[in-house]
Amino acid sequence: MSYINENFMQLQESYLFSTIAKKVEKYTKENPNKIVIKLGIGDVTRPIVPECIKAMHKAVDEMGTQEGFRGYGPEQGYDFLRKAILENDYKSKGIDLEIDEIFVSDGAKCDTGNIVDIFSEDNRVAITDPVYPVYIDTNVMSGRSGRFNQEKGIYENIVYLPVSAENDFKPELPKEKVDMIYLCFPNNPTGTVLTKEELSKWVQYAKKNKSIILYDSAYEAFITQENIPHSIYEIEGAKDVTIEFRSFSKTAGFTGIRCAYVVIPKTLKGYTKDGEEVSYNKLWNRRTCTKFNGTSYIVQRTAEAIYTKQGKKEIEENIKYYMENARIIREGLEEIGIKYYGGINAPYVWLKVPNNMSSWEFFDILLEKVNIVGTPGSGFGPHGEGYFRLTAFGTKENTIKAMERIKRSKNLLTK
Ligand code: MLT
Repeated sequence: MSYINENFMQLQESYLFSTIAKKVEKYTKENPNKIVIKLGIGDVTRPIVPECIKAMHKAVDEMGTQEGFRGYGPEQGYDFLRKAILENDYKSKGIDLEIDEIFVSDGAKCDTGNIVDIFSEDNRVAITDPVYPVYIDTNVMSGRSGRFNQEKGIYENIVYLPVSAENDFKPELPKEKVDMIYLCFPNNPTGTVLTKEELSKWVQYAKKNKSIILYDSAYEAFITQENIPHSIYEIEGAKDVTIEFRSFSKTAGFTGIRCAYVVIPKTLKGYTKDGEEVSYNKLWNRRTCTKFNGTSYIVQRTAEAIYTKQGKKEIEENIKYYMENARIIREGLEEIGIKYYGGINAPYVWLKVPNNMSSWEFFDILLEKVNIVGTPGSGFGPHGEGYFRLTAFGTKENTIKAMERIKRSKNLLTK
């Protein structure tokens, strides 16, 4: 007889975005004449930029030649891409890192999920609430949570840090001592940000408590305002306490291509039960070599092209395109008096559901009566209840259409 990993029994029935996809599929099957606009999952719609496609073609052709063919690559990523990341995302911004502190991967979902491997089961985990569900689910799977409390909608043994309009979506420092802290800024799902001063409080907390911050900055490219940190390493001392996750998914439309990276500074240390100091960089390297054979050469060459002069220009245009969608969403909501947050430094707009409806009630009305898919806030955690997320990653045409429909349905949605 084989025994299962019983931690999985604690998980909620299905992953948020799969539940939504099933609901939408059912509705569209039953109503084949309705044209549903999807502003739910944060999946991009702009094609891969020409500079990247050119690099991809070149890499494909190389692979068909004797001299250019490549088999297994370095598990941590090719130096050409790690160097481009180092120079462009860090050194040019005054952040001093080394090449072997960067690990290229096939996505930030995998990185933020897999990272739990190198941490003890006994660590106390803090997460903001609402939150990207991967952080919680992967800690549940690896036994770091207690049971799920149905009534409260939370896991025991996990420290929830609520964010809502009441605290301006800025999490308070935990009252108790925690060992691992997940932060995501610009935030998914709320689209809100922290200033450098606000973020430095977290670095101070982590230093004082010897905790580790797991910082997801997948949306940094969408920041438009000054004094908003793109990397947590802009904060003094952060290199001693933080792992940073970055992704090309949203920045360069790689949701289908798959490429991301994680930064683990060599100064980042954890401890054995005997108090021995151990480098997390070493552990992650060991884990990577065992469980991963590297992101494909073709994909890494495609990613490298993001950092050329032309690549940067083309990517910037795409980002502007999405942020224009965010503006269309914000202004549409404003017009009909629906309160919203985010959408200025992030491609997500987080709206307050009108009329005290629940997030899922609003989801159903929006799907069935307005034919628009969004993401119910409560799907991201109990403090997301009463909120709803719209993504700016649709096409401009669909975003305009969706907002026209929402404005036309003002009475239905807001009365
Ligand atoms: C989201 O919609 O929150 C994201 O697209 C999910 C993801 O990046 O995995």
